[in-house]
Amino acid sequence: MEDRDEICPLRSADVFARERLSEKRYGHTLRVADTAEVLARTHGVHPPRARLAALLHDAARELSAEKFLDLVDSWDMPVGEPERESPKLLHGPVAAELARRELGVEDGEVLDAVREHTTGRPGMGPLSLVLYVADKVEPARDYPSVERLRRLAREDLREAAAECLRRSIAHNEERGRPTHPASIETLGWLEEAEDGA
Ligand SMILES: [Fe+2]
Ligand SMILES: [Fe+2]
Repeated sequence: MEDRDEICPLRSADVFARERLSEKRYGHTLRVADTAEVLARTHGVHPPRARLAALLHDAARELSAEKFLDLVDSWDMPVGEPERESPKLLHGPVAAELARRELGVEDGEVLDAVREHTTGRPGMGPLSLVLYVADKVEPARDYPSVERLRRLAREDLREAAAECLRRSIAHNEERGRPTHPASIETLGWLEEAEDGA
């Protein structure tokens, strides 16, 4: 039986996402939430916290570039050069801050997972890894290596995250687009940990 304390934030997070998102992106959000819950259970992470992070992760995704910059400036949040150039990169940090301010979410690991889901972060914790990978392998994702990644996600979360990062870096290179430095550093961190294991 679910604990009341766990149900309430999940309900508010669901409404929070649904009110801010198109049907299509809300659908993605629910699929990420289901996937994150399953991965959490497999990898010893508390499933309701993974679901909460997933429900929140893209809640700010449909704000305009101006709105992102207005919000972060009004909060005095530091903004890197890549984010100034491509404000959509701020949708994770902005969703985390809105969830903290408007929903009263105080769970630091949940907020980190939301914040870090676009680029990753070296040292990211298990809950962040669950969300990062769930976002890339939810059932509607369709790209050549997705089945292999789904399998890897069940077996080895860190290797799955590393593989998602390699894929996204290669994808950017093909298109002549820069990769966020945090993604490159995160991949380095994951590979270092593998070598040392
Ligand atoms: Fe996102
Ligand atoms: Fe997403």
